[in-house]
Amino acid sequence: MRLAKDGMEIEMKEKITFIIVLITVIGFLTGCGTPDEKSADNIQTNKKITVGFSQLGAESDWRVANTESIKSSLSYDNGYVLVFDDAQQKQDKQIMAIRKFIQQEVDCIVLAPVTEEGWETVLTEAKDAGIPVIIVDRMVNVADHDLYTAWVGSDFGREGKIACEWLKKYCEVNSIPSDDIHVLDIQGTLGATAQIGRTNGIVKASDLYGWDLVDLVPADYAQTKAKEVMQQMLKKHDNINVVYCENDNEAVGAIEALEEAGKKVGSDIKNGEVMIISFDAARSGLSKVLEGKIALDVECNPLQGEKINEVIRKVISGEEFEKYTYVEERVFSAVDHIDRVSVDGISYSVTVLTKDILDKREY
Ligand code: AHR
Repeated sequence: MRLAKDGMEIEMKEKITFIIVLITVIGFLTGCGTPDEKSADNIQTNKKITVGFSQLGAESDWRVANTESIKSSLSYDNGYVLVFDDAQQKQDKQIMAIRKFIQQEVDCIVLAPVTEEGWETVLTEAKDAGIPVIIVDRMVNVADHDLYTAWVGSDFGREGKIACEWLKKYCEVNSIPSDDIHVLDIQGTLGATAQIGRTNGIVKASDLYGWDLVDLVPADYAQTKAKEVMQQMLKKHDNINVVYCENDNEAVGAIEALEEAGKKVGSDIKNGEVMIISFDAARSGLSKVLEGKIALDVECNPLQGEKINEVIRKVISGEEFEKYTYVEERVFSAVDHIDRVSVDGISYSVTVLTKDILDKREY
């Protein structure tokens, strides 16, 4: 009797153990629990964090460095499974990628948006699915800021202001009257935060300081397109003496067009040189600074991967995190007599570029 009872107890225990194991396996296979619970589990059990990353394209040296930085920080060895999608500058491709990430039930979505508008619907879908979204580089313009979890990127408005304050100081120091300044703005992709911030800078400064803003033409941050724009602008205007390029690839394209047209690029506006101002401070741009062909290059830092990694880990483990994280940026120049500029009460140092700095550049 006793034996039979013990036998039954053993059998019962085995059945209970079997049921518990079965429930755990079914739970694992069907992805039981909300995405946040799954994500917190990931951190506790050292399981990989699955991230869907929608990158807007590969239009510039900056973008390539940005993709590399994010891929290497969110690597398999670093605890991630990264699903990468290149949208080739198309917002509808980014929206499709995000919908796919939602279906795949990723732990987190990273979005580098091509332009600011038109994200409400898909971000609401991600929010309803309980998937945190980290916006990187440019911004999204949505009324409800809870549609995204956090943002990591650059202050493009400040970059534009720094460039224009530097030009103002350059004119003062070199006694160049405001009405002698004729600026062409080769813009980035219209509607992108980087374009909006940098274009605002030159439009407002031209208005304030009395510069002649001869034209504003978009070139989508691309070298070939910028070269074509510069060629057309040289046919249309004969007085351009400052070309404000909204990234380094555009600056390189503009320089090619100017030199092929027999113009001399440099900082000596008074003696007929055409001054180039640029943004990014990628190796391609800084090489032109060292040659004296780009007068000022305001850095836009693409190395955002580590900051994104930190934010994702905090979000997923339920720790406190900053909603907005700005990356650090510097200012480089070929001109050695302006060492600081002041913007909104903050003074920024301007570094005269040396070969040593260029040689150490990561991208
Ligand atoms: O959004 C950042 C800008 O986009 C960079 O200045 C540019 O090079 C890039 O393509």
